[in-house]
Amino acid sequence: MAFSSLSTPSSSSPSSSFTLPTKPSPGAGSLSFARASAGRFRMAAVRAQAEAVDTSISPRVSALRPSKTMAITDMASALRQAGVPVIGLAAGEPDFDTPAVIAEAGINAIRDGSTRYTPNAGTMELRKAICNKLQEENGLTYSPDQVLVSNGAKQCITQAVLAVCSPGDEVLIPAPFWVSYPEMARLAGATPVILPTSISDNFLLKPESFASVITEKSRLLILCSPSNPTGSVYPRELLEEIAAIVKKYPRLLVLSDEIYEHIIYHPAKHTSFAALPGMYDRTLTVNGFSKAFAMTGWRLGYLAAPKHFVSACGKIQSQVSICLSFLSSESFCATISAIECCNFLIPYFSYHPLFFFADG
Ligand SMILES: Cc1ncc(COP(=O)(O)O)c(C=O)c1O
Repeated sequence: MAFSSLSTPSSSSPSSSFTLPTKPSPGAGSLSFARASAGRFRMAAVRAQAEAVDTSISPRVSALRPSKTMAITDMASALRQAGVPVIGLAAGEPDFDTPAVIAEAGINAIRDGSTRYTPNAGTMELRKAICNKLQEENGLTYSPDQVLVSNGAKQCITQAVLAVCSPGDEVLIPAPFWVSYPEMARLAGATPVILPTSISDNFLLKPESFASVITEKSRLLILCSPSNPTGSVYPRELLEEIAAIVKKYPRLLVLSDEIYEHIIYHPAKHTSFAALPGMYDRTLTVNGFSKAFAMTGWRLGYLAAPKHFVSACGKIQSQVSICLSFLSSESFCATISAIECCNFLIPYFSYHPLFFFADG
């Protein structure tokens, strides 16, 4: 606005360059010429500076590495589009379609005009269905206000890490791990601490090595069982040993990523960490529908935890995304409860004794 009444030295020159006025003929007031020149020079310099955009990125984002899973998946799609026959093993995609009953519910939701914003935490119906599932399958008692439904488990985990970790905190991650965990820690300004495991231990965390790395900065242990990428399932007894260690550290919380709960084979049994004695109050359980129900593109995941953690995550979610896609919330619970859906899938999985995921 202040510049609008000023004529630029050369309006036709490129925006970032400028020309000095030509020297007046002898006899003209040299003082006023010098003032005018200096003024124009200054204005042009200010303009050039204003037009040079500051492209710097915040240190928090600069420290973040982009998702390799998504990079490889995008590369595979581009190759496919170019006619190259590739099989993508990056993102964990079940090899069957979303069950027809769910797909139908989605179609009906569109036809019924249920295409509006839904509550930020997920519809009450959907959260009640999730509570039923957690009770029946996992022995966990939650009320709907202890459940937050998000656009995929990934959003749940990111929000949970952001909600409980402060800069300088340590996030303990057994290796091999899903590649996003350390980046989520970095996003929160926390430090990922990688805990090696070995093939001779089935890539399961040894209680003694876990105990040896805990410091006063340790804030969050991320457990993924069944594990991506190893497929290992933590036996209940081992989880109990880990829980006994966790119990000694009041600051230490556990994020239990149970997204692969249903991709499990006899004799392995899934145990929810929150169901172990003393762990309910310090466990944030994450699960979702992507893997078990082949709903990766629908974006439907959830967090169940003590109310104060859920509220904190909900606060983030309310500023990050308005709500779930209507397709996910309306259609999924409109026709079937999560339990019915599980029953529907059991025959499918029993016919697929080998089920590989190379995911990250
Ligand atoms: C271990 C693990 N947790 C969470 C997710 C995220 O799942 P969602 O599709 O629900 O965001 C993935 C996806 O690949 C995963 O492998």
